[in-house]
Amino acid sequence: MARHSFPQGFLWGAATSAQQIEGGRFEGGRGESIWDRFATLPGKIEDGSNSDVACDHYHRWPEDIEIMKDLGLAAYRFSIAWPRIFPDCSGKPNEAGLDFYETLVDALLEAGIRPFPTLYHWDLPQALQDRGGWSERDIAERFKDYATVMARRLGDRIGQWTTHNEPWCAATLGYEEGHHAPGHKDPAEALRAAHHLLLSHGWACQAIANEAPRAELGIVHIHTPAYPESTSPADEDAARWFDGFFNRWYFDPIFRGAYPEDAIADRVAAGHLKSPELPFVKEGDLEAISTPLDFMGVNYYSRVIMKTDEKGRRLAVKPGPPESLTDMEWEVFPQGFYDTLMRVSKDYAPKKVYVTENGAAYDDPIDEEGRIADPRRIAYLREHFLAMGRALNDGVPLEGYFAWSLLDNFEWGFGYKKRFGLYAVDESSRQRIPKDSAAWYKNVISANAVSDELTPTSHGDSSAVEL
Ligand code: FCB
Repeated sequence: MARHSFPQGFLWGAATSAQQIEGGRFEGGRGESIWDRFATLPGKIEDGSNSDVACDHYHRWPEDIEIMKDLGLAAYRFSIAWPRIFPDCSGKPNEAGLDFYETLVDALLEAGIRPFPTLYHWDLPQALQDRGGWSERDIAERFKDYATVMARRLGDRIGQWTTHNEPWCAATLGYEEGHHAPGHKDPAEALRAAHHLLLSHGWACQAIANEAPRAELGIVHIHTPAYPESTSPADEDAARWFDGFFNRWYFDPIFRGAYPEDAIADRVAAGHLKSPELPFVKEGDLEAISTPLDFMGVNYYSRVIMKTDEKGRRLAVKPGPPESLTDMEWEVFPQGFYDTLMRVSKDYAPKKVYVTENGAAYDDPIDEEGRIADPRRIAYLREHFLAMGRALNDGVPLEGYFAWSLLDNFEWGFGYKKRFGLYAVDESSRQRIPKDSAAWYKNVISANAVSDELTPTSHGDSSAVEL
């Protein structure tokens, strides 16, 4: 059995987001978010749930910090709920919302855990959606105001700010495919939304830098590597197309200051753009968007295999077999994690990389003794940690890793049925119940190493859980 040790000071963390865990929907002056509204629409959330209470983190955060301490986390990635800070369009920040995050941040610091906040993890104030949301350029000004207020209040205590979480999802799932709030299905609108998300990132970076000149700035992108099903030019082209639409449309403007030309041509061919001149891009936008960053956040879950069918359609190949899939029907493919880390560091030369999300949804039962054995999650994490180790050896400037997620939570359109947590949350009592993976992760963190062999975990005595 071999061990892979991580560099000293490697930042082990866990991630959550406000809409998914906080609850406290009507407390502390919080306004409505687009996800609160979306959840009231019939059929939008698979299990008919909403996130009014979620994990009740709004009240239970002290207990959650205890869990983090017990795990030995060095950092905690969370998001700030914009509707707690600006509940309406009055332009006046809500003191109770600011106080909530200030208290949380102070308690994390007190616990020796680095706060790693994200300003936008998809919970747009409904009041701003009513004015057009991300499709209107004005929203970038509003985001800048919000970033300014947060940096003014917390800038002396936060060393690293992340503006957005996965703008691809916010734009494409929210405005093009309609699976996410606000549920629109308009590709042209989605392209405008994507641009305004990116623009707001650039302007927010400038605003934070003004308020907190020493702060490090970054953004979180999801990266899904695309592999052709065969070596045929048509399949290669399908993989290129996916990469342009999903990855490069977001990485290129931020790290290279330009939208990818081939992907623009794809959008023109599809009729989503009238011409390659992007009408929503104004002078100076791309300079703002490509403001140099201190770090890149990368989320990785799985890969896609692409093909072109007989009718010339570019399609994702259905992944399988079933035992290779998580409950999201995402293929477990650690090599894709390695490829992702190598690719982003080679193509975009970030100064530092953090894996800001990675994890697996599996629904494992609680047994009579109250134990939740989740060997598939442990196997997933182990293999991905080993892939990360190889990427580190091969020169990726990787500084840390955040497991998705600390807790089972409100998984957007899927409701509570998809469980990513290291801890389960009892449906009625909201008690946090550690899964075996929590004890396993704790051991990895304390050893700062992972072994390359699957060993059975044993319950009760966490020191007996193998790395
Ligand atoms: C990511 C999201 C996160 C969670 C995981 C499973 O795309 O950022 O909130 O939903 O997927």
